Amino acid sequence: MDDLLGKISIITGGAMGIGKEIALRLARDGSDIVIVDIEGELTGKVLNEIQLTGRKSLFYEVDVTRWDRVKAMVHEVLKSFNKVDILVNNAGIVGPVAPVWEYRVEDWDRVMEINMKGTFLCCKAVIPSMLKQKNGRIVNIASISGKEGNPRMGAYSSSKAAVIAFTKALAKEVAQQNIMVNCIAPALIETRMLEIMGKEQREFLLSKIPMGRFGTPAEVSALVKFLVSDECSFSTGQCYDLSGGRAVY
Ligand SMILES: NC(=O)c1ccc[n+]([C@@H]2O[C@H](COP(=O)([O-])OP(=O)(O)OC[C@H]3O[C@@H](n4cnc5c(N)ncnc54)[C@H](O)[C@@H]3O)[C@@H](O)[C@H]2O)c1
Repeated sequence: MDDLLGKISIITGGAMGIGKEIALRLARDGSDIVIVDIEGELTGKVLNEIQLTGRKSLFYEVDVTRWDRVKAMVHEVLKSFNKVDILVNNAGIVGPVAPVWEYRVEDWDRVMEINMKGTFLCCKAVIPSMLKQKNGRIVNIASISGKEGNPRMGAYSSSKAAVIAFTKALAKEVAQQNIMVNCIAPALIETRMLEIMGKEQREFLLSKIPMGRFGTPAEVSALVKFLVSDECSFSTGQCYDLSGGRAVY
């Protein structure tokens, strides 16, 4: 398929895992890709893979919590491509797995900053250009934990609940400008994040998935692909479940 031909997509956290898969999928479907990540070395490999699809790719080594850096990155992208059609806010961290009373305040702040504030800052920087062209698609990667609240993941769950509410609020602000803003709530997806959270928590969360397996980054990118396409034209402010049956609402 090449139905994204001519589109410009910014994907945060595209160096690995789900973000990498989204970047490759959107490139295969025709979009030029801008990856924003803090992992410069790993991103090099992704850029090579994107170029093999025949699409253009750019990388900005930017921490999404830094407003000055995010603003400058979007300014540069607009200078290079003149527009941004698609923004996927995927950069995120799980943070420590610990009960609330043992959770360090600085860890709480960092999880919130990256997962929530980073999403806000990237939207804030990109939306003015989408408003000008009266067209845009934004997908925020939330989590099933934001709907259900995973024990020992208080900061992560709260940050993802905030992403879901933010998605709904923003969607209403731009609904009349042909800008669709949606989010996705995956359960466990096979990436390094599962290693970081540890075996015990991983198995506990796996036991809650009726399909009895992890999801794959390709399954996430397939849903993202629909949500960023022109075919997604009457759905906005939604949280799409991707949890092997864990959430049925
Ligand atoms: N893997 C899962 O089970 C799962 C489930 C639900 C939701 N999610 C969400 O999906 C998204 C991607 O997760 P993943 O599993 O691919 O994780 P990952 O750790 O494999 O990849 C995350 C990427 O984000 C980048 N990143 C982290 N902090 C950043 C920052 N401050 N600025 C810019 N980039 C930064 C990392 O360098 C990395 O490339 C996250 O938002 C995560 O919360 C993951």
